[in-house]
Amino acid sequence: GTTYPFYGEHQAGIVTPAQDRLHFAAFDVLDVSRDELIELLQDWTVAAANMTAGQDIGRHGAVGGPQSAPPEDTGEALGLPAAGLTITFGFGRSLFRTKDGDDRFGLGRRMPDALEPIPPFAIDSLSEASSDGDLCVQACADDPQIAVHAIRNLSRIAFGRASIRWSQLGFGRTSSTSKSQTTPRNLFGFKDGTASIKSEDAGTVNKWVWAKGSGSEAWMNGGSYLVARKIRMIIETWDRQSLQEQERVFGRSKGEGGPLSGGKEFDEPDFAAPGTGGNPMIDVAAHVRLAHPKQNSGIQLLRRGYNYVDGNDELGRLNAGLFFISFQSDHRTGFSAIQANLRRDAMNEYVRHVSSGLFAVPPGISDGGFIGQRLFA
Ligand code: HEM
Repeated sequence: GTTYPFYGEHQAGIVTPAQDRLHFAAFDVLDVSRDELIELLQDWTVAAANMTAGQDIGRHGAVGGPQSAPPEDTGEALGLPAAGLTITFGFGRSLFRTKDGDDRFGLGRRMPDALEPIPPFAIDSLSEASSDGDLCVQACADDPQIAVHAIRNLSRIAFGRASIRWSQLGFGRTSSTSKSQTTPRNLFGFKDGTASIKSEDAGTVNKWVWAKGSGSEAWMNGGSYLVARKIRMIIETWDRQSLQEQERVFGRSKGEGGPLSGGKEFDEPDFAAPGTGGNPMIDVAAHVRLAHPKQNSGIQLLRRGYNYVDGNDELGRLNAGLFFISFQSDHRTGFSAIQANLRRDAMNEYVRHVSSGLFAVPPGISDGGFIGQRLFA
């Protein structure tokens, strides 16, 4: 099976070719000291390095320890390959300063400007209980059992120090982050990820994905900022729309995924191309027009989201949508700028944002270090 190195200049799980499955969790740190927080991050680092290499956690693993003690690894990954597992850690604003202004870990003056909260948007319907958090862990793998095993064991290791605030399972990646991947589809049935940043475009990645921290923010240099948005799709309304209307909403064809101005999937849209009745071929409110770099001062996003279905509601409607994740050097010149420009998006009629998270994802580390080490130096 595929394994990705845990150690390196950047954390894995950002430009890594998007795997098929996600388990994302946001944690709140309990009433512990700064040293205990550091110990948690050290323990998480060691466990994550083991799991991403396809190994059991701990010295004795799932079944090699004494009969009288709980096993160090919960065991459901025994016999399974690493399945391309990556584990990516991030720090929320409340780790640096609580809502009441409390600097519990002495990190307040190292809080990066880019953790300025995401502004509210008109289509927000956010639940506070399933938004934000002190820490986040994004586990991605090609096997759901492997992704769940990772979050479960990190949560178990955190016992008494941090607990899960909210979490999300995702299936079916909705983006490609490498030119070697085919473009997958979201639950509206459209190809998704066509124009997302690809890891092969080193200059673009460097400009739009990696943070360039200096001074009190130097610890973030080579990191990135993760925005997570749980976006509920109003599937039943969508499914009653004509194919023509569905294609108008995105400005792309549903089959090929090419721009409605003509051409194949990867051809540039021509937003000026005239259609019928004095309207352009790509509607003025089409998602792709409003999200395109031409309408957003050149901004490009690395999207890395997943489909989700959380069962159904009492009327038998699927509780489903897209768990949107983007990585950027600063959300104010990334997600938030584009989302502001989407206020007239034709897609808004069919979606509602229900959770939100913003996390500073520190750079990678070398063997022997721990995640976020430079923040605590
Ligand atoms: C493009 C779907 C939310 C930013 C696209 C495309 C689709 C799509 C089908 C065209 C293919 C592609 O280039 O990937 C969706 C769905 C969403 C959603 C179903 C929510 C349920 C968002 C959000 C943002 C965003 C919240 C950022 C604020 C973009 C960008 C592009 C794009 C930057 C590329 C535009 C271009 O350069 O052509 N999206 N999207 N999308 N979307 Fe979304």
